[in-house]
Amino acid sequence: MSVMKELRCPLCHHPLLQNTQGLACDNRHQFDRAKEGYFNLLPVQNKHSREPGDAKEQLQARRQFLQAGFFEPLKTRLQELLPPDAKTVLDIGCGEGYFTAGLSSARPNASVYGIDIAKAGVRLAAKAAKENGNLVYCVASSADLPIADESIDFITRIYAPSKDAELWRVIKPEGRLVIVAPGENHLFCLRSRIYKDVRPHLPPEVPQGFEMVGQDRVQSELIVKHKELCAALLDMTPFAWRLTPELREAILTSELSDTLDFTIGIYSKK
Ligand SMILES: C[S@@+](CC[C@H](N)C(=O)[O-])C[C@H]1O[C@@H](n2cnc3c(N)ncnc32)[C@H](O)[C@@H]1O
Ligand SMILES: [Zn+2]
Repeated sequence: MSVMKELRCPLCHHPLLQNTQGLACDNRHQFDRAKEGYFNLLPVQNKHSREPGDAKEQLQARRQFLQAGFFEPLKTRLQELLPPDAKTVLDIGCGEGYFTAGLSSARPNASVYGIDIAKAGVRLAAKAAKENGNLVYCVASSADLPIADESIDFITRIYAPSKDAELWRVIKPEGRLVIVAPGENHLFCLRSRIYKDVRPHLPPEVPQGFEMVGQDRVQSELIVKHKELCAALLDMTPFAWRLTPELREAILTSELSDTLDFTIGIYSKK
């Protein structure tokens, strides 16, 4: 299947080829396909904790909240930014795969890779993507991408960490990198219930070796009526873990009204 040809062995960096159990390189490093369909390409020596990345509960809350459609305007904007002729797409820190799946359905003929260091996220993402033949999920670190040099047309990094040198290595010379980060007003009401002085989010730095070629912003009103979805929002939002139990309960018992604000930076290689 041609969809995997951008993957490389995390141990020796040789290309990975499909076999009956999963993937292997010519040095016989074998990576089995998990029953959900994903590949674990994170070598044990690169695993700095037992369960790196976001916790399962946080990822499940994110799945529940995103599936309810609150982030749809951002998904649509990312689909619009995806060049029509993109053949290879990489979503770094894909989590439970909401945006990755959106990118793959917008370009059914492209090979779309979602990687995340959290196995629980990749597992959730892969389970939901069994039907999508153009979508491949891997457990891997953004600090050491299991992706061949200059092989990716379009990279997204949505609220996730990455390493500049790795972004630079895997993107094609004409490729586009899109970084999504919280904007100034993002969840301002919620933040002001937690912090005395709400500091504005700082825009992400331009990755080394790249230049900004465009900027975009997606803002929308957020009204969450159901208690269960309010709880999901609080559970997926790290700063909301600082809420006192009383304040958390107070938020959960009334309708939540706030702003969603995302900044989008678009970059190309210098
Ligand atoms: C806030 S979540 C965003 C998930 C997804 N992009 C979304 O918007 O729904 C950040 C994700 O980055 C992942 N992550 C953290 N460190 C990482 C690393 N070194 N390599 C790859 N993923 C990482 C976490 O496991 C988590 O799923
Ligand atoms: Zn190898």
